[in-house]
Amino acid sequence: MIAVNNISVTYPDGTKAIRDVSFTINDGESVALIGANGAGKTTLLLSLVGVLKPYTGTISVDGITLERQTLNEVRRRVGMVFQNPDDQLFMPMINDDIAFGPRNLGLSEDIVEDRVNSALSELGIGHLRGRSSLRLSSGEKRIAAIATVLSMNPTMMIFDEPTAFLDPKSRRGLIKLLSKLPHGRLIATHDLAFADEVCPRTILMKNGTIFADGKTRELIYDARIMDECGIADTL
Ligand SMILES: Nc1ncnc2c1ncn2[C@@H]1O[C@H](COP(=O)(O)OP(=O)(O)OP(=O)(O)O)[C@@H](O)[C@H]1O
Ligand SMILES: [Mg+2]
Repeated sequence: MIAVNNISVTYPDGTKAIRDVSFTINDGESVALIGANGAGKTTLLLSLVGVLKPYTGTISVDGITLERQTLNEVRRRVGMVFQNPDDQLFMPMINDDIAFGPRNLGLSEDIVEDRVNSALSELGIGHLRGRSSLRLSSGEKRIAAIATVLSMNPTMMIFDEPTAFLDPKSRRGLIKLLSKLPHGRLIATHDLAFADEVCPRTILMKNGTIFADGKTRELIYDARIMDECGIADTL
């Protein structure tokens, strides 16, 4: 479970990107994070994995409060799939990328190998293990980035615009894959149809605040609410 209590994030230049945001996501729950460009989605996600430090408020994961001493423990439980897979894939081969996290935890090579194999097979990308990310397609990179997070055995997964740059077939593949994974998840997306299909609940952001938190169906089809948040194009 992830619990966010009254967090605010201000960037060094004074931009107030998140203002007094609170919510809880339970284990196994799938939640979309929707909002116009600049609403604060990425800032919020980066705060949840401790990349950005909230100015005020608390974040806790499975009862562990995020702070300097618990950062590694929290990151083991909450895995983030970055918007740009190139930020996540930097080793010579995909299997090294997938092994990177578990190896950093100090796990034995046998266990690391098991983690890599399970992630590859769970995602159906065994054929990519010896490839370099430099030569993968966007869709393949996205799935490989997800594998680097899965190998950490997280309880919660965070995605920043996972359908960006995917063709319709890869997008469909990602939807299928997500529906198989049991992890709780928070997914920032501009893809309303994707949110509708994958996330029963939506948190709607506007100017760094939570404008609404409720059933995806009830929010994304409401032209007035979506318009109010600067998302003119309802489904
Ligand atoms: N490093 C930074 N320094 C200062 N301001 C920033 C920085 N990164 C983001 N911002 C500002 O913080 C606000 C929230 O940005 P954020 O990237 O979280 O939005 P977003 O909802 O993810 O947008 P998008 O849909 O375009 O990805 C914006 O006003 C943005 O200009
Ligand atoms: Mg963003």
